[in-house]
Amino acid sequence: MQPIGPLMIEHRLIERLLLLVQREFQRIRDNVAVDPEFAFVDPEFIDTAVDFIRTYADRCHHGKEEDILFKALAEKDLSPEHRGTMEDLIKEHAWARETTAGLVKAKDGYLMEKPGALDDLMDHLEKLVEFYPRHIDKEDKHFFIPCMTYFSEAEQADLLARMHEFDRLLIHEKYRGLVEGLEQRRGCKSC
Ligand SMILES: [Fe+2]
Ligand SMILES: [Fe+2]
Repeated sequence: MQPIGPLMIEHRLIERLLLLVQREFQRIRDNVAVDPEFAFVDPEFIDTAVDFIRTYADRCHHGKEEDILFKALAEKDLSPEHRGTMEDLIKEHAWARETTAGLVKAKDGYLMEKPGALDDLMDHLEKLVEFYPRHIDKEDKHFFIPCMTYFSEAEQADLLARMHEFDRLLIHEKYRGLVEGLEQRRGCKSC
């Protein structure tokens, strides 16, 4: 398997999650159109979607793209077009992080019944729903496959092995961070 294989497989799961987000956005929007007072937002759904986007789409998926694939590509003599696309993709990852943080802020505002929070929440949901398919399409159809020509077969095998190792460590990183966060909040010293 080429190193872009796992990334493309991950794209399919990200698409499925975003489809659920799109449906939730449409459900809220349809309710608002009838009566904003009855536009119930499911905070548990938003929290679950945000955890997926932050842990899977960003840390696990964008992490492998940026820390492994793009870093290796940066050392190659890339065409101006490919270098430009890679820089755009990195900027888009940063934009997605900010927009996800904005969604969390809007959801918190909604729960505190802040004026305008519902519109803000819908705006962020819509932006994420529009963003991911475009970003994924750019990578799948215009970047990943041509970029493989910069690597030898041995280099591709090395990238793939590093991606597997990155994934292997991730679950430990996630739950070590969770325990450390809890310890800090509870004022405990870590062992
Ligand atoms: Fe990406
Ligand atoms: Fe991607």
